[in-house]
Amino acid sequence: MKILITGTAGFIGFHLANKLIARGDEVVGLDAINDYYDQNVKYGRLEFAGIDQSQIEYNKLVKSSKNPNYRFIQLQLEDKENLYKLFEAEKFDAVCNLAAQAGVRYSIENPMAYIDANIVGFINILEACRHYGVNNLSYASSSSVYGLNESYPFSTSNNVDHPMSLYAASKKSNELMAHTYSHLYGISTTGLRFFTVYGPWGRPDMALFLFTKAALKGKPIKVFNNGEMLRDFTYVDDIVEGITRVIDNPAQPNTEWSGNNPDPSTSSAPYKIYNIGNNNPVKLMDFIEAIEKALGKTIEKQMLPLQAGDVPATYANVDDLVENLGYKPSTPVQQGIDNFVAWYRDFFKV
Ligand SMILES: NC(=O)c1ccc[n+]([C@@H]2O[C@H](COP(=O)([O-])OP(=O)(O)OC[C@H]3O[C@@H](n4cnc5c(N)ncnc54)[C@H](O)[C@@H]3O)[C@@H](O)[C@H]2O)c1
Repeated sequence: MKILITGTAGFIGFHLANKLIARGDEVVGLDAINDYYDQNVKYGRLEFAGIDQSQIEYNKLVKSSKNPNYRFIQLQLEDKENLYKLFEAEKFDAVCNLAAQAGVRYSIENPMAYIDANIVGFINILEACRHYGVNNLSYASSSSVYGLNESYPFSTSNNVDHPMSLYAASKKSNELMAHTYSHLYGISTTGLRFFTVYGPWGRPDMALFLFTKAALKGKPIKVFNNGEMLRDFTYVDDIVEGITRVIDNPAQPNTEWSGNNPDPSTSSAPYKIYNIGNNNPVKLMDFIEAIEKALGKTIEKQMLPLQAGDVPATYANVDDLVENLGYKPSTPVQQGIDNFVAWYRDFFKV
């Protein structure tokens, strides 16, 4: 398959690209390489896949020095003209859109960044799929769409109309936008609600990275909601396995779907929503203890109240994933954290 993956200088896109390159797909990676967090981590990921920083130029396809079936282009999703040219020239069999402005907390300070990348960027992807014959689109949504919901575990059949941040609202909007394109143009679209993803090459703005960094510098960590948080931490390889199965099994219309009793997770159109989560929520304090174990030291904690936009608990129902794709994430948290810490020490030489 010839696949466009957006967000390949990012955490999840990097891992997905590596997996698809290794199994022999022809992969084009796209990323703006923005400075939302340490760009050295982004260039490091690209370098790992054989994309040399000195070769990168805006809107130029660069060949990987390590993988003949990988090319990379630095491009903004908002740059419709050049995005269309890329689609026209490459004729992709499938597109996986992971590029986005991520982060709940940042969306409170910088709402417009989410409209640009996640709304304008996503409509450009949808339009490009429509005009250049791509019939297999998968895209990142987020567990944050569950917002004020308190019925655990979160099911894709639940209504999700009460987001708590513009980030969550932008992801829910993507699902709605995708549905219209599945309905109007028959494009297979699958939205993936990822649950707190962690692992090697992870994001510098997320808890595991922040905690590890602070701990190694002997500084205190900020623990929100006084540690009273439950997170369905999901290892990045498990996420990537789920995405791969979705790419290989594009959404089909649900012939039993009824507008009288509309299931939000499927449709009469080729549209599907999945949760990809560990289905095994962990207490934040236990997660921190696992980091302490991996580092072999106790971390000083500063207990703080819940932050605006944050949900106290996430827990994924993954029955659909098991039933339709025969798959369930399974990496134990301690193993995933150990792998992250090993990567962190190696990458930052600490
Ligand atoms: N990591 C998680 O826990 C998590 C959870 C739920 C959902 N998600 C979603 O999964 C996707 C991947 O997340 P990640 O953790 O790898 O994030 P990331 O920030 O590491 O990767 C996203 C990449 O997209 C790029 N990008 C941002 N705006 C762009 C634009 N307008 N045009 C082109 N590129 C742009 C960034 O430069 C970045 O490299 C995102 O859509 C995110 O919202 C992530």
